[in-house]
Amino acid sequence: MTTRLRLLLTLILLPPLLSAAPLTYDNNPLGDYDFPLVFRTYMPDPGLDDAIFAHHGRSANSPKYNPSQGKDVSGEFKPVDGIPAAIGVNHGPALSYCFDTTECRLLYAWQGGFLDMYPYWGDPSRGNRLSNNYVPHLVGSLFYKTSGQHPLHLDGKSISAADTAPKFLGYSLLEHSPTFRYKVGPHTITARILPSEDPLTLQAEFTCEPMAKLAYQTNDAKITVTHDEPGNLVLLLSHQVIENFQGFPRNLNIKEATVANGQLLFETYGCMICHSLDGSASHGPTFAKLYGSQRKITGLDKPLLADDAYLLESIKDPNAKTVDGFPPNYMPPFVLKDLEYQSLVLFIQSLEKGE
Ligand code: HEC
Repeated sequence: MTTRLRLLLTLILLPPLLSAAPLTYDNNPLGDYDFPLVFRTYMPDPGLDDAIFAHHGRSANSPKYNPSQGKDVSGEFKPVDGIPAAIGVNHGPALSYCFDTTECRLLYAWQGGFLDMYPYWGDPSRGNRLSNNYVPHLVGSLFYKTSGQHPLHLDGKSISAADTAPKFLGYSLLEHSPTFRYKVGPHTITARILPSEDPLTLQAEFTCEPMAKLAYQTNDAKITVTHDEPGNLVLLLSHQVIENFQGFPRNLNIKEATVANGQLLFETYGCMICHSLDGSASHGPTFAKLYGSQRKITGLDKPLLADDAYLLESIKDPNAKTVDGFPPNYMPPFVLKDLEYQSLVLFIQSLEKGE
């Protein structure tokens, strides 16, 4: 076969294979339990108390600039509606968190997803971002939101009570996970946050040089200290779900429940980052041979039939029943329109049936 013919054949054969997946990138990027994704981007504010941002500068409106006229025109731009200088980290569905480098503290943590980059990165086929409020949206179940003064105490005093603001020094990757370093007075603190096997829980580890007695005091979560010696504190932080997020709301304008619309929703809402269609393992069970199969459910003696009602409940309220072998709270509940739920069920039905 000539090279030209081979190229022609490749071009003819490739597009249908590629068309099912996003073309260039995934708007729902996800790291791994042991290999997190570290993101420096504007982070969304899930309703944090203003007092937490004591050391952040206050931004103001800016004049509107018209590039083709080369000058300012009437009107103003509002500041971007996100937290600057924060870092988003994702360990797969097990844990995502937001660490603020100005206040040097963990702002919030969630499970079951990371960020929907659609507002910032735009549609994968066109790459256009939103012109205003392009801050990414959260995906998953928020279970921790900080409040009040800085929870870390050195020799009995919160970091918030120090004479000077904490100063961020940077982070380094230790076994792929960031270790944040910051200065409080003469002390250099390191903070490391890791996922835990327990649901809605994270592990935090702090060190302090020169040594001081460390303590973590907060009313907004349950704290279990697992290691405590001067200059080194390790703890588990857990709480219940505060709020569920499913990314940037899309108006897909679905008028009819169809398999094709189900596939569109499957791709749009990032189901495919956790559910394969070909039987391969992922963060969640595969959809291959799911419909009509017997499902083993954690805590139930008898298996359940995966019929329409079961699928519907699994999408609306994933924690009502947990498939054996998978952790709870990995899948965020999806609040969709009835036609959208029906389309997703039709799509799963249309795949190879189980027995
Ligand atoms: C962040 C990962 C994640 C995302 C995103 C996700 N799921 Fe899940 N899903 C899971 C996990 C884990 C389970 C198994 C635990 C459970 O039952 O809650 C599950 C279970 C299910 C089940 C039951 C499967 C079975 O084997 O019985 C269905 C149906 C389902 N998901 C549909 C969806 C749909 C539809 C979407 C997108 C709208 C979606 N999921 C998005 C992780 C995810």
